[in-house]
Amino acid sequence: MEQIQVLVIDLGSQYAKVIGRTLGELNYRSAILPPTKAKSWLEINKPKAIILSGGSASIYESHSPKPPEEILSMGIPILGICYGMQWMVNILGGVIGVEREKKEYGKIEIIYYESHCDLFADLDDKKVIWTSHGDSIITIPDGFSILAKSNNNQTIAAIGSTERKMWGLQFHPEVTHTDDGKDILQNFLSKICNCKHDWVPNNIISDIHQEVTEAIGEEKAIIGFSGGVDSSTLSAIIAPILGKKLLAISINTGALRKYEIEEIKINAKAANVRLKIVNTSSCFQEALKNITDAEKKRKAFKKLYVTILEEEAKKFGATFIIQGSLATDYIESSGVGEASLIKSHHNIGNKWKLNEMHPIRELFKYEIMALAREMGLPNSITERQPFPGPGLFIRIIGVPATLDKLAIVKEADAIVTEILKKHNIYKDISQLIVALIGIKTVGIKGDGRSYAYPILIRGVQTRDFMTVSGYYFSPEVQSEIEKAITTHPKINRVWFDSTDKPPATTELE
Ligand code: XMP
Repeated sequence: MEQIQVLVIDLGSQYAKVIGRTLGELNYRSAILPPTKAKSWLEINKPKAIILSGGSASIYESHSPKPPEEILSMGIPILGICYGMQWMVNILGGVIGVEREKKEYGKIEIIYYESHCDLFADLDDKKVIWTSHGDSIITIPDGFSILAKSNNNQTIAAIGSTERKMWGLQFHPEVTHTDDGKDILQNFLSKICNCKHDWVPNNIISDIHQEVTEAIGEEKAIIGFSGGVDSSTLSAIIAPILGKKLLAISINTGALRKYEIEEIKINAKAANVRLKIVNTSSCFQEALKNITDAEKKRKAFKKLYVTILEEEAKKFGATFIIQGSLATDYIESSGVGEASLIKSHHNIGNKWKLNEMHPIRELFKYEIMALAREMGLPNSITERQPFPGPGLFIRIIGVPATLDKLAIVKEADAIVTEILKKHNIYKDISQLIVALIGIKTVGIKGDGRSYAYPILIRGVQTRDFMTVSGYYFSPEVQSEIEKAITTHPKINRVWFDSTDKPPATTELE
């Protein structure tokens, strides 16, 4: 394989992997490394482009991440994004300020001053971009020009120096909320860095085959199988090469949705993988019965999940556990780079007595979906909405997830799903979240007082779950949902949540 052309230095941003994903969509392979590893990598590799990601720190914090300074004199074009740009400006003699009034967050309009420059070639000169920053540029370093400013408070939004081969953006071109963000990255890589397309989805399948064959040899493996697009597609990829050496294990935790088991069976058949369903509802009930705190709940779930899979591996004689964890799972669980911990995903960071493999850990949702389609897998797999491993346990908020509450939320989820499917909306949202809020409120049912739980309904739209947009249901659909759900004797209110991520996350816990 050709040398990797693009180095992304991860400076602690949630978005470093999204940059990698976007480059993949543009057909460029990239290495994403924290500053500490970037230095040694650069000693043996010569990329054509370096991208410095954003980050949550301020350059004035003593432990803020610092890219190796050598990159500034290597002659390789650099694009600094948000924090990455601020680091560059500061070190080259510019000034970064911390004025409160210059803070910007969310969608902002910017105006390009030098729309003819290579970075913004062929783009309109007024754009809506997505930004999230506290610090901002006060003075640019010598040799740089201001390429764009934000329209509301005149914050410097883009700078560049053709002579020094360095460019900087205060906003995030890698997120889908930035108009023409991909075009800016494409311009940087093709017009400025002269990179060639070198990422072909089909090659991923053969790379996975090679990795799994080499690692497993004559041993046996189990794969954690949820029936979702990630584990189903990975199973379909590896089942032909592992044959009888592979067993898919689904754990019925007691917190699955109403028709989940049937769907799991259908998808295992479509993926052509042998399936065992392990019924363990009472163990999970017992382990979680007194836990309210979101992170404690997730940790208790993870522990039991590992124990059960290890037992199943032992019964099958497997020495390997294969999992369909994606890049997003790693980022959000802080398994990669320097992103700060948001929530512990059930299949990341576990300590196994088995050899562990995550063959699709570098991929994003849209990529695994593309692979599934390419392999001709059915809609039951390609169009299946994600569902978190800890299931309905993390959709009971503020109180322990007892059996009666699980039953309520399971029923509510089934009712909403049916209504959305009837209105042909289910396929338009990336994920439906139906959660029970663990406080009781007063209502009227019939002629009497009711004291019951609210159900929260949340639809989100996204490509990769790193950022999501809240979905707004029509008043007609909202009203139908409210009427249908409140017929349940233990529900008397319905709340709709259309908050974006950030600041919210997709799930409530
Ligand atoms: P958040 O809430 O982090 O969710 O925005 C992003 C996506 O990840 C799913 N999710 C999980 N998936 N194990 C999983 O397999 C987990 O522990 C887990 N937690 C969240 C979530 O449903 C959404 O699709």
